[in-house]
Formats: sequence, structure tokens, C-alpha cells
Amino acid sequence: MTKRILQPTDENIERCARHVIAGGLVGIPTETVYGLAANAADDAAVASIYSAKSRPSSNPLIVHVAKTEQAEPFVADWNDDCRLLAEAFWPGPLTLVLDRSPQVSDLVTAGHKTVAVRSPAHDVARRLIERADRALVAPSANQSGQVSATDARHVISEFPLEDFPVLDGGACALGIESTVLDLTGETPLVLRPGAVTVRALRNVLPDVEVPVIGEQTNAPGTALRHYAPRTPTVLVESQRFDERLDELDEGVAVISIGPRRLGSQHVLVEMPKDPDDYARCLYAGLREADESDRGLIVVEIPPWSGGLWRAINDRLQRACVPPLNP
Ligand code: TXA
Ligand code: MG
Repeated sequence: MTKRILQPTDENIERCARHVIAGGLVGIPTETVYGLAANAADDAAVASIYSAKSRPSSNPLIVHVAKTEQAEPFVADWNDDCRLLAEAFWPGPLTLVLDRSPQVSDLVTAGHKTVAVRSPAHDVARRLIERADRALVAPSANQSGQVSATDARHVISEFPLEDFPVLDGGACALGIESTVLDLTGETPLVLRPGAVTVRALRNVLPDVEVPVIGEQTNAPGTALRHYAPRTPTVLVESQRFDERLDELDEGVAVISIGPRRLGSQHVLVEMPKDPDDYARCLYAGLREADESDRGLIVVEIPPWSGGLWRAINDRLQRACVPPLNP
């Protein structure tokens, strides 16, 4: 199948299901971000995901399922905590990290003793998994470390050299990745803040803990630089924002909350104040700023921290760490 955007008709879902069963990759919409899906039980297909994304082999993949029973064979013990969390948040943007069962491929888990599972809420992702009748691994559909895709066209632009179909599910409703919760330690630990807030998790498991960014040294996939535009990006506090822009000689791309009067040399990407709306526009905003061909992106730090802002600020901070080998 050639690379192109397909409307999610029953016929196209059927074609894509046959394509993944045969070992191919398919770009899929989820409620969080677009994913690049392959059959979790096919090592050659899983290996091709790592190479298409230039993903380090040490960074494991999430197994996506349509229903809880499909997740159970992948995990050693589907215990009461999993059951409660799945009942509360599945289908939806919560990924559970659990002890793996022996049947999971080492390629999926990157050799770890744990496996990540999630049941996406997006109708198109669910129809594909159901039609294929098997679990699919699906990392975010972007080059490793780069900005995630929230639109089918973004997926095509991230993989200029690859040839796979992308199912078009429109713009992602949430726009920010799933929350990754590790249930394998003594206390449940948020490895990646995401669309399910810490408060919502604590309503189900009161002892959920959240480490500070940069201190999750033993968790895979928590490299400081991630979700990053190609253009150097800096964060500036709201209070100092205008003052900092005045100091700049060259035109820059400005990501500001709400409108802002700027010199004509600058490009403005205006973000909404509401956290749900901000999250939905976050990656498209970073892409727009990146494509404006300015030498620098200057982002106003959202002056709020609760709820979804935790995940938004996590992504912004990781987008702004300079590359190790610039
Ligand atoms: O919202 C999402 O989760 C999206 C959509 C497509 O479902 N997927 C996604 O996948 O964000 P990816 O591969 O870009 O990020 C998965 C994160 C990585 O940080 C990875 O290290 C972590 O989940 N992860 C996967 N398996 C793990 C494991 N066994 N232990 C700890 N972390 C794991
Ligand atoms: Mg990702």
C-alpha cells in the first residue's frame, strides 16, 4: 500500500487491517496524538517502527488494545489496581506499565521486564484494532524526539522516506499524549504526565506519586529533550516576556498566550488560555513556529500549574532543552 491519507471508511479500515496483519505499518488517529501502528506479535513489523522513527532500541512501545481482555495476555498479573484504573479511564488516555507476561516480544518491551498497555478511545483506532483482531503497538507518529503529530498531514511530513497509509481521523481531540502510570513499584508512579490528570488518578489510587522532570533517571523514554522543534526554542516567564522580546534584534517566532502586539519582524502564534484548548493546539503551534523560518522560537511559560497544565509544561520544558550534539 502506498503512502497516502485514507478516509476511515469500512473498506479502508479493512484494507489497513489486512496491511498490518501482513506486517505493514499504518498511521492511526487516537484521541491523544497520531500513532504509527504495527502488529505487536510481528517482530519484523515492530522492528520497522524503530527504524522508521530512528527510535533508540532502549525505548519500549505501548501495546494498544480495543478491550481489557486483549491486554490481559500481555501482562503477568491483571490485578485489582489495573481493573479499577481500566474501569475508570479506558478506553482513554491512560497507559499502564505492568509486569510483562512471557509471551510479549523483547522488541516491544525493549528488553524490560515490564509492558505498557492502553486502550485508545478514538473510534478509528478502535475499529482498526477490532478489524485486525489483534493488539497493535503504536508509538507517536513522529521522528524520535521531535514534535508529535495531531493531524494526518503532520504524519506524512514526519516520514518523507517511508511508504505507509495514514487513516484520517481529523485533528486529535486532546492533542497531548497519554499519561503513563507505572504500577510495578511499591507506589504507583507517573512516568509521563498526560491527558489524565494526577488528581483524577488519585481519585482512584490515592497514593499516586509524580517525580520532578529530569529525576526519572531509571525510566525509559524520559530523555530530557523530546517533543522538540528543529528550531532552537526558549521558554520565558510571562512577566518578563515583553521585556525579553524588546532585547532581540532578529525576528523570532513567538508562542504567546492570547494576543500580543509585536514588531513586524516577528511571527505570532497565539495560544488559548483554556488548558484543554492549549493542549489541543500545542503541537500544531510548535510546528507552525518551526515552519516560520525564524532562528529562534520564544515560548511564554503558561503561568498556571494544576491539572492539564502539568502535562503541557512538561512538554514545553522538554521542547526547550538544547540538543546534546547541536
Ligand atoms: O498517547 C499516547 O500514548 C500515544 C498514542 C499514539 O497512543 N503514544 C505514545 O507512544 O505516546 P510513544 O512511544 O511516543 O511514547 C510511549 C512512552 C515512552 O515514553 C515510553 O518510554 C513509555 O511510554 N513506555 C513504553 N513502554 C514502557 C515500559 N515498559 N516501561 C516504562 N515506560 C514505557
Ligand atoms: Mg512519542
